[in-house]
Amino acid sequence: MTEENVKSALSKVMYPGFTKDIVTFGFVKDIVVNGDDVSVTVDITSSAPEVAQQIKDEATAELMREGAENITVNVKAPVMPRESSSHGKNIAPQVKNFLMVSSGKGGVGKSTTSVNIAIALAQQGKKVGLLDADIYGPNIPRMMGIADVKPEVNGNKVLPIKAYGIEIMSMGSLMEQGQSLIWRGAMIMKAIEQFLRDILWSELDVLVIDMPPGTGDAQLTLAQSVPVTAGLTVTTPQGVSLDDSRRSLDMFKKLNIPIAGIVENMSGFIAPDTGVEYDIFGKGTSEPMAKEFDTKVIAEVPIEPAIRTGGDDGKPITFVAPTSESAKRYMQAAESIWATIEEINANGGVDNQSVQPTTPPGVSACSTGGSSAGSAQSSGGGCGCS
Ligand SMILES: Nc1ncnc2c1ncn2[C@@H]1O[C@H](COP(=O)(O)OP(=O)(O)OP(=O)(O)O)[C@@H](O)[C@H]1O
Ligand SMILES: [Mg+2]
Repeated sequence: MTEENVKSALSKVMYPGFTKDIVTFGFVKDIVVNGDDVSVTVDITSSAPEVAQQIKDEATAELMREGAENITVNVKAPVMPRESSSHGKNIAPQVKNFLMVSSGKGGVGKSTTSVNIAIALAQQGKKVGLLDADIYGPNIPRMMGIADVKPEVNGNKVLPIKAYGIEIMSMGSLMEQGQSLIWRGAMIMKAIEQFLRDILWSELDVLVIDMPPGTGDAQLTLAQSVPVTAGLTVTTPQGVSLDDSRRSLDMFKKLNIPIAGIVENMSGFIAPDTGVEYDIFGKGTSEPMAKEFDTKVIAEVPIEPAIRTGGDDGKPITFVAPTSESAKRYMQAAESIWATIEEINANGGVDNQSVQPTTPPGVSACSTGGSSAGSAQSSGGGCGCS
């Protein structure tokens, strides 16, 4: 047997569904011939198991016909992103993974982080949604450059707005600009549920959820409505922010949400003119907290004027300046988050059953809403929340 004999045999194997063979496609790699023993690797583009099996069977048969004896056909298929393996209540089942971006303190950069991580994940090939769950202070429309875009409404369903390859929804897109929003707890719960159930999200690999600051109704309702795959805490380096961030990390633990890591934002400032670094709020101070919660700091993002202008102008730095140092850090953070999400799913996913509200028999819980179509109405049912 020669390499030529092997190629000639394999050129009779058509790629399933096509009129071209696997040699012409360039899928045949690593041909090793030793007497009549043949070993080949076929690197295919489809991950469907039946495609791999068919190629393996036909290649083996053709090589035997050519006179080969000990035949090894190794078919390498791409590994597709894992489906979610999570359980429990999920009112947005077409979304495979949910990433909750939280902080104890306001103004530390949750929305900025959510936007840039969402864009980084999309640039890494994931199908991404971005939900602005900050009902009181929705900033995502401006940061994503869609402040003037109104979504299409279809009955009581709303189509997400698209920008930078991401599906987006925010209370800011549904209200007039500058209006104040005054919400009672039960209304926050309803709003979060509707964001998940009544927005026509596609089959997303991940929905990044920008939370309001703190640990309140919005966080609890989210955790009860969908199995949150992972939580990300954003903090600035100074002590008072770290104190509040501990509360955010503790909340993840109490809600059984695995922690994807900490982003230390506003971590040093590099003067653009001189390149000298100043630690305005400190730097590297989140590390002990990460250890305490058995997680890691997945990015230290410096104070950079381009991050702020990117937010104000709706031109996120990760999209418009992907080679900048900050964009690279967001990209690395996104890779780390995705690796954590895959690991969580490989280990059986998450289950939000244990955080469901416990209500006496016959009394409905406001925060669960059931599967009724009329989610826009108050839940009623004697729970006293209407
Ligand atoms: N690394 C950074 N460098 C420069 N400016 C930043 C950085 N991170 C955030 N900012 C700016 O700081 C401000 C606050 O950030 P952001 O709105 O993301 O915080 P937040 O935690 O979402 O706030 P809130 O709690 O009000 O929702 C914004 O103007 C943003 O552009
Ligand atoms: Mg915000």
